[in-house]
Amino acid sequence: MASITQLGYLGLSVSDTAQWEQFAATVLGLQPNGREPDGSLFLRMDEYHHRFILHPTGKNDLAYIGWEVATEGAMNEVADQIRQAGFAVTPGTSEEADARRVAGLVKFADPSGIQSEVFYGPLVMYDQPFQSPRRISGFKTGPLGLGHFVAWMDDFERTLHFYRDVLGMRVSDFVRFSPAPGIKMNVAFLHCNPRHHTMAFAAMPRAPKRLHHFMLQLESLDDVGATYDLCQAHEVPIVMKLGKHTNDHMLSFYLRTPSGFNVEYGWGAREVDDSTWQVQVHTAGSIWGHQGNL
Ligand code: FE2
Repeated sequence: MASITQLGYLGLSVSDTAQWEQFAATVLGLQPNGREPDGSLFLRMDEYHHRFILHPTGKNDLAYIGWEVATEGAMNEVADQIRQAGFAVTPGTSEEADARRVAGLVKFADPSGIQSEVFYGPLVMYDQPFQSPRRISGFKTGPLGLGHFVAWMDDFERTLHFYRDVLGMRVSDFVRFSPAPGIKMNVAFLHCNPRHHTMAFAAMPRAPKRLHHFMLQLESLDDVGATYDLCQAHEVPIVMKLGKHTNDHMLSFYLRTPSGFNVEYGWGAREVDDSTWQVQVHTAGSIWGHQGNL
């Protein structure tokens, strides 16, 4: 079966793209890379033309997920797998592919109705190297993809089946805990390349936002520390302090974006080797730290 290879890009629906542009450049260190006539803003973090598209459509949530595959053939195979699982798949038009700066794409909605795209052939710009507006060493992406995101989904088993058995992701582990007496939470972490998880989810059908956070992984611990200082100096809300996660061993903190969902800013995660990895279960999210409320 064909599998997705990485999280290529995320589309976000935001209220204020000017505020976001300032936040992304001066806090996160992402590079603004132009706008579309409708005001949509591209953000770069590596050689890709963009890894985020921010649309001024005001929902302050995830707009769509862009899953990358290696070739047109793999895209068509994944599209067939999605159709065989009972979901509608629409071929992207050449105008839609141009808007995403990719060679081709297909569109579908996941079991929770999240707009999703499988694409191949992203525009890469080695001729105009990524340059962070901040003095940071940069982001760990390449074959690991953009980073990861965590979303609230409608149904746990249907979501697991779709991403694992239809899109070809693999389970890394589960974090199972009780946030309040009598309430059980099960978070599934899935990978599609050596990044420990590219997506994670739990079931919460009526969550106010789909998107809980997305994660940017930095090349250097100092990038995380310097940004932690910057957030405190400029009163950017830190929603969870520095800490280290149990499952991916990421050292990170979480800050609030202008849209209300969060960014995990991290360094040093361990990677998954599919030839030796065994699924694990954790009952805590962090080894130490991460105090706060998400
Ligand atoms: Fe995370």
